Amino acid sequence: MSAVGQAPVRLDGPDKVTGRARYAVEHPIDGPLHGWLVQARVAVGAVTGVDRQSALAVPGVLYVLDAGNAPALAATDDSELLVLQSTRISYRGQVVAMVLADTLEAAREGARSLRVTYDEQPHDVLLTREHPKLYAPEKVNPAFPTDTAGGDLDAAMAAAAHVVDVEYDTPAHFNNPMEPHATTAQWDGDRLTVHDSTQGTTAVKKHLASAFGVPEHGVRVLAAHVGGGFGAKGSPRPNVVLAAMAARVTGRAVKLALTRQQQFALVGYRTPTLQRVRLGADADGRLTALAHEAYEQTSTVFEFAEQTTEGTRHLYDAGAKFTTHRLAALDVPTPRWMRAPGEAPGIFALESAMDELAAAAGINPVELRIRNDTQHDPETGAPFSSRHLVQCLRRGAERFGWDSRDPRPAVRRDGRWLVGTGVACATYPVYQAPSSARARRCHDGTFEIGINATDIGTGARTVLWQIAADALGVDPARVRVDIADSDLPAASGAGGSSGTSSWGSAVHKACRTLCDGTAAEVVVDTADDIAAQSEVSRHAFGAQFAEARVDLDSGEVRVPRMLGVFAVGRIINPRTARSQLLGGMVMGLSMALHESGTLDIGYGDYANSNLSDYHVATHADVVDVQAEWVEEHDDQLNAIGTKGIGEIGIVGSPAAVLNAVWHATGVRVRELPITPDRLLGGLPERQDVL
Ligand code: MOS
Repeated sequence: MSAVGQAPVRLDGPDKVTGRARYAVEHPIDGPLHGWLVQARVAVGAVTGVDRQSALAVPGVLYVLDAGNAPALAATDDSELLVLQSTRISYRGQVVAMVLADTLEAAREGARSLRVTYDEQPHDVLLTREHPKLYAPEKVNPAFPTDTAGGDLDAAMAAAAHVVDVEYDTPAHFNNPMEPHATTAQWDGDRLTVHDSTQGTTAVKKHLASAFGVPEHGVRVLAAHVGGGFGAKGSPRPNVVLAAMAARVTGRAVKLALTRQQQFALVGYRTPTLQRVRLGADADGRLTALAHEAYEQTSTVFEFAEQTTEGTRHLYDAGAKFTTHRLAALDVPTPRWMRAPGEAPGIFALESAMDELAAAAGINPVELRIRNDTQHDPETGAPFSSRHLVQCLRRGAERFGWDSRDPRPAVRRDGRWLVGTGVACATYPVYQAPSSARARRCHDGTFEIGINATDIGTGARTVLWQIAADALGVDPARVRVDIADSDLPAASGAGGSSGTSSWGSAVHKACRTLCDGTAAEVVVDTADDIAAQSEVSRHAFGAQFAEARVDLDSGEVRVPRMLGVFAVGRIINPRTARSQLLGGMVMGLSMALHESGTLDIGYGDYANSNLSDYHVATHADVVDVQAEWVEEHDDQLNAIGTKGIGEIGIVGSPAAVLNAVWHATGVRVRELPITPDRLLGGLPERQDVL
């Protein structure tokens, strides 16, 4: 009779497929103004003039806001949110003005017509390993050490039976959720109501109250439906501040949606990474030395230091270990979170290098990873609460048909195609953030749960409903869950794969507390439960397998099969969980084969800022992607036993594809994406004729 473990369809599914679900700028509102942003045409310098009349001359255009007339905002830690507060320009694409009009078309035309003049200064946008501005940040996202070191690396490398010393690079990646960042904002005196496309409205409410100097209780932020985020909506972004500012200035409701092109500069992206991995192993393949260095960029506006090598600290032990991050503040848009920030590019490099070690040592790549398993966190020495990586590898190998694999590269042909298979490990930390929740017993025998969680398309609303029904011990039909409204009990944002653990624990506690007492309503908080947690290391693990086929003539790569086997704690809803894991794996495939921001050094920004030039995997690329999980019962996580599933699917999958491409071709590509030009020169000669 347990609702947890069942696979109900999303509660909001019917509303979404019938169009009843309202996204941020779809809420009916009387006579809104429409905003359109104007972006800087230079990368560094200052705005010297805004000819407002040039836009106001367009019929329907009513206001132009720029640094010369925008109201002052309160100071904030996130300087990217100090929009229109200065004429200074720190990256190409920064917002320099907002045009407001009665129609969207007039706003767009006004923005196009607005004449802005600039004082342009030289810019510096290219990250290199030798960049003079590289420095060691104080910490890396969110609060990990920048550097770690233990043992004598040089001695261990010198004494190793097998060594690998390689550089792997990844380009800038852009989140591109289906729904762009978008906001509807309306003031009523000092009260502000906002519909925002965000991963967490509690944080948006706090920021808006602070920015505009009004009490938090007067600000209400809603996000009933959100069309994806992947980290780009993990904190308030400029759009919500601009919409609220425009509504305040004009006294009218304002709708503002970023265009797809604007998304590329204004909401964050994954930093490019330049990495070096050094591995030393004994004759049996056991790691004796492990060094992982990452070079990354941030902007001059805000420091975001991706934790690129953090995953490496926890995956394998080695006698001598060394990890480091160096950051350069360039004249570029600010990079931020993108699905598995750190682990996605970092484990890509590590697991590609591990494949090189397997080849150098003549050891089966699955076996190499099994030999290097550890049940203690190499970073802290603490035991893992659970680590079933070996089970994932064994199960995946069995299902994928790994045991019959010939380890030699470039020896399998199927017509024009070279064929190979690859494997890589996945890992992602278990996060849980304090949240509060309310449970209410109604007279008709039903129950109402309230928590300001956000469902960004994951199925969060549905799994919280399942968790509540079980905690109350009632049929789910008697339970209603309200989320995504900042007037509900405060909760953490949808990020770090922590939603189900954070919100589910709060919902579970509220329901149990209600059942244990006689009150008709209870509100609980999980802050104390999290602070009391035991000192074990909590991580999710997985094994990723891929088959690659490479066209001998064109260098085109196809991936006919992917399989991920994960150990991610308890699965609440197999349908929505599988969807998260598959989505992550597809994004990993996309990262391996397609995604790459193309830097235009002359203009100083990413030239392919649209979905026709910035390629992502399409249906034709996704042939047979399977995800499964091993049973894992871990009572040292939280009340519901979950580890998080939103991000681990993108971890390891790019390396599995890259390793499969090497196995197919014998060409070791060390820079993503694996485009034909990076393969063609190294492919074997064709001996036959079509
Ligand atoms: Mo995720 S990148 O923590 O939203």
